[in-house]
Amino acid sequence: MTGPTGSGKGKRGGTMDMTGVRLTELVEAAGCAAKMSPGALAKVLGELPRLEDERLLVGFDASDDACVYDLGDGRGLVATTDFFPPMVDDPFLFGQIAATNALSDVWAMGGVPTLALNLLCFPNCLGIEVAGQILAGGADKCREAGCIVAGGHSINDHEPKFGLAVSGFVDLSQLLANGTARVGDALVLTKALGTGILTTAHKAGLLDDAGLKVATDSMITLNKVGAQALRGLDAHACTDVTGFSLMGHACEMAEASDLVIEVEAGEVPLMAQARDMARMGLIPAGAYRNRDFFGPRVCMAKGVPLDLSDVLFDPQTSGGLLVALPERDARQLVGRLREAGQPAAVIGHACGLSGAGEGTDRCSVRVLC
Ligand code: CO
Ligand code: CO
Repeated sequence: MTGPTGSGKGKRGGTMDMTGVRLTELVEAAGCAAKMSPGALAKVLGELPRLEDERLLVGFDASDDACVYDLGDGRGLVATTDFFPPMVDDPFLFGQIAATNALSDVWAMGGVPTLALNLLCFPNCLGIEVAGQILAGGADKCREAGCIVAGGHSINDHEPKFGLAVSGFVDLSQLLANGTARVGDALVLTKALGTGILTTAHKAGLLDDAGLKVATDSMITLNKVGAQALRGLDAHACTDVTGFSLMGHACEMAEASDLVIEVEAGEVPLMAQARDMARMGLIPAGAYRNRDFFGPRVCMAKGVPLDLSDVLFDPQTSGGLLVALPERDARQLVGRLREAGQPAAVIGHACGLSGAGEGTDRCSVRVLC
């Protein structure tokens, strides 16, 4: 925990604005669970014309976290954007979460965020002070990230949404793609899973504020913490776990790296009550979309309980980094992060396609229990 809830408390309003409207009442799907289905997205993107440019080192055909443009001096320009509807009622906290999530993709590429632009959709039915609180929350996390908020754009919309377009720089020798994991690497996850399920449960009135705080504290923890803990370690590949769930992002890493990722279900850090809430059916629609799309590429051991596999497919908002690196470095990374108060863990390994065992040749990810 980096303590940002405390630092923001004085500026935060209550859970309602003067009109008495709760933010989450205005939205259909919250946070990264509001992402388009991965199948639909793949279809639309596949039909777009490809513009080739040798200076575009990472483009959108790579399913990576951000695009990277070669500046010609050993550095790359990293650009990314993310915005979504609120999953909490407190507008300042929502702003913090959306900004933390949007900044994350730059660190996931090994870069440092430098400049951010606000993207705000805002309904007329809410008081203008709510918009101010959302932007203040976003600015608070950008300040903590060392990233300048330099402008933005706002439009009227019946459903509130907020996020950032972020630019940063990366030393190209430190560039971290998601498709460069190596056989034998250990996989580290830097945050616990469960934000989609816990925010869904809270919205349904079945999880109290203390239960929700586990998720919100995690969602406002910058992945800067994870990126800094990686310094001096030999990271081979990295991505952040967001709307496509641990299973989806692990599939993407495995397929882009041409190997199989084995996950030890019992080692995956989970938020308190996430499995309980999953057992009660408090599962966001995005989790079912993830299971539909990525499920056929995931070989789940029969002994993995359904509630646990639900958490593995749960869309994460502002989730942690998934890093592939040699075993020894992985242990060091986990040690550093636990010292910083993050529930990081080695959750599995990268295996060769042939060594993945019988009948598993269609699997990108194998979950063992
Ligand atoms: Co990402
Ligand atoms: Co993103």
